[in-house]
Amino acid sequence: MNNALEEIHDFLPCRTPPRWIDNALANQDLMLIDHAHCEKKAASTALSLMYRYVDNTDLLNRMSRLAREELRHFEQVLAIMKKRGVRYDHLTPARYAAGLRKEVRAQDPGRLVDVLIVGAIIEARSCERFAALAPHLDGRLADFYNGLLKSEARHYRDYLVLAAQAAGGPVDDRVTDFLEIEKQLIESPDTEFRFHSGPV
Ligand SMILES: [Fe+2]
Ligand SMILES: [Fe+2]
Repeated sequence: MNNALEEIHDFLPCRTPPRWIDNALANQDLMLIDHAHCEKKAASTALSLMYRYVDNTDLLNRMSRLAREELRHFEQVLAIMKKRGVRYDHLTPARYAAGLRKEVRAQDPGRLVDVLIVGAIIEARSCERFAALAPHLDGRLADFYNGLLKSEARHYRDYLVLAAQAAGGPVDDRVTDFLEIEKQLIESPDTEFRFHSGPV
């Protein structure tokens, strides 16, 4: 597992700022609610790719498995929320995913390549944040977040493999473009705390 985390740290342009960790610890209920939304959204993104690219068998298989895992994570977060008396609710969308998706090209195959790269980055960041948070959380939540690392690291790799396939070659330059935006979104002050927000 440590290797997977090292790979993620090498891939991402920066670590989570310590101030965001403080925000998360001070807003654990909100963190759980947003985390539940993230898992549900991850499943939904995978499903929409399956609707759009029906002729891509590798994508269908990887995204189908990913969607199942994300929905399982969603159920696990809901169970933890229930135990803690945290009520699930709507939240205003975070700037993070929207900020990354703004740069996605409109036409295929560029569109697919970009959506997959964004998917890889979101999975990688989630993995990095679970690892960064775990040492500060109580036992039950720390175990859960440590357990999630492994699947999110695999999802990150699945997305990158599919992106290179869709591009028909290396996607490093495009990844670099998106990582530059990601660094900005992670490090610059944000207005609202979310699982993928900048420090508030
Ligand atoms: Fe997940
Ligand atoms: Fe994931």
